[in-house]
Parts: sequence; structure tokens; C-alpha cells
Amino acid sequence: MISFDGKVALITGAGHGIGKATAKLMAAHGAIVGVNDLKQEFVDEAVAEIASAGGKAIGVVQNVGTREGIRAAVSSLHEQAGRLDILVNNAAWVRYQSIPDIQPETMERMLDVGFKSVIWGIQAAAEVMDPERGGAIVNVASLAGFRSAVNSLVYSGIKSGVMGITRAAAAELGTRNIRVNAVGPSAVPTEGTEKHRNAERDAKRIAATPLGRLGNVDDIAKAICVLASDASSFVTAQVLYVDGGASRTSF
Ligand SMILES: NC(=O)c1ccc[n+]([C@@H]2O[C@H](COP(=O)([O-])OP(=O)(O)OC[C@H]3O[C@@H](n4cnc5c(N)ncnc54)[C@H](O)[C@@H]3O)[C@@H](O)[C@H]2O)c1
Repeated sequence: MISFDGKVALITGAGHGIGKATAKLMAAHGAIVGVNDLKQEFVDEAVAEIASAGGKAIGVVQNVGTREGIRAAVSSLHEQAGRLDILVNNAAWVRYQSIPDIQPETMERMLDVGFKSVIWGIQAAAEVMDPERGGAIVNVASLAGFRSAVNSLVYSGIKSGVMGITRAAAAELGTRNIRVNAVGPSAVPTEGTEKHRNAERDAKRIAATPLGRLGNVDDIAKAICVLASDASSFVTAQVLYVDGGASRTSF
């Protein structure tokens, strides 16, 4: 059911975590994957891992937190691979701060990377996606966009916004055969979340999760791949919570 043979996919923030797992899985199923990240060494490592597993990857070092940066990432991959079929807006820069501690610089960077880049990315990708072939965009939102905790005012706002962007983009791009969906992961261990985790918090999360464990990056990557693939040919404007059931249940 799921094949990315002949498809070209750009994944932002693919040097680590969920983005890297998604890049590896899409490449393993036949995609040519554009691996974007901020730093050359992050990109080189992910590209090398994909190549050593027999996949095809193109490194795209860009800061997607500016309109120029995400446009350059899209056009560079489009030029090198000849087309663009899939965009995964995954990159984020995250700080959790209480309301009095929120500072303009922190909020601006979070908005630039986690919110504006999704809009500019959709704009740039829609310009080059071929309406005959169609296209698929998957935005990485969060359970925090639906259910909020303390110290997450900016993050929750951004991820709720990403869900709204997903619906609005799907409404506008459907006639061009571009599907737009989002995933809403619960907390999964990554380089980015390491400093925010502790055993007590993990135990509470597991207790509130019907499937009885934390998710991992591969759980999220699989859901992104399903939404990006032709297996989801009539699915658009949706948020798929990938959370072991935590968002929809209580004890
Ligand atoms: N890990 C979780 O628990 C979790 C839960 C819900 C949602 N998410 C979302 O999933 C996505 C990935 O999270 P993760 O935990 O894998 O993150 P991570 O921090 O492990 O990896 C993110 C990557 O994005 C890159 N990046 C940051 N700013 C960038 C920029 N301006 N341009 C290009 N690349 C940039 C980083 O260098 C890093 O390699 C984010 O959107 C995050 O909000 C994560």
C-alpha cells in the first residue's frame, strides 16, 4: 500500500528526532528525500545513514525560520531532483516558559521556525508541485495544540495554529490536487525533548495512555508516511493524533 517510488520529499528539521526517522522511513520506501537542517554535520549524518541503508537522500542545509530559507530549501531540492511531491513541515525550536518569563526573542524564534515556516513552506511547495501528479503536505503539530499544560503558552498557541493552517491550506489547495494534513504526537523521546523529561512525568504520561507506553520517533514517522502516501488519497484537512489514545480518553 505504501510506496514512495518516484516521489521526492522535503523534510524540514530532519537532522534529528521525528524528522530524521521520517526521512529514513520514506527513503526506505523509495522516496528521494531532501534532508533539511540548520547545520551541515546534522544533514551529512542523516544523509549518510540513509545512503548506507540503500536509500537516496539530498542534503539541504538551510534555516527554514525565514521565508528566504524555506524557499531556498524547496527550490534547491526541486532543481536537483526535478520535482517535489511531498513536504513535511517538521522543524521547530521550542522553549517552555511561564507567562511572566516569556521574552520577545524566544517567542519570535519559536514563531519563525514553528509557525511562519509552515506557511512559507506551504506557499513555496504549492508553487512547484505539479497539479497533474498531485502533492502531499504533512505538518507536524502536537497534542499540545489540542490539550495544554503549564509553561506552554507559546508552544500550544503555535501548534493550535498549525492545525488551523492545515485546514485552511487543505481548503485552498484541494483543487490543485494537493492534500494537507497534520499529525499531533504526544511526547516522544528525542534530542529536543531530552531536557524536559523526567521519570515522574513519563510515568504520569504512561498512566494516562491507553496503549501503556510512551511513543517513539518511529511511531510518529509511520503516521506521517501514511498521510503523505497515496494510501491517504482521499484524506485532507485532518489532524491525526499519534498519542496511544491519550487525547481522547480518560480514566
Ligand atoms: N518530541 C516530542 O515529544 C514531540 C511531541 C509533539 C510534537 N513534536 C514536534 O515534532 C517536531 C520535531 O520534534 P523533535 O522532538 O523531533 O525535535 P528535535 O529537536 O529532536 O529535532 C528538530 C530538528 O529541527 C532542526 N531545526 C531547528 N530549527 C531549525 C531551522 N530554523 N531550520 C532547519 N532546521 C531546524 C534542529 O536542528 C533539529 O535537528 C517539532 O515540530 C515538534 O514540535 C515533538
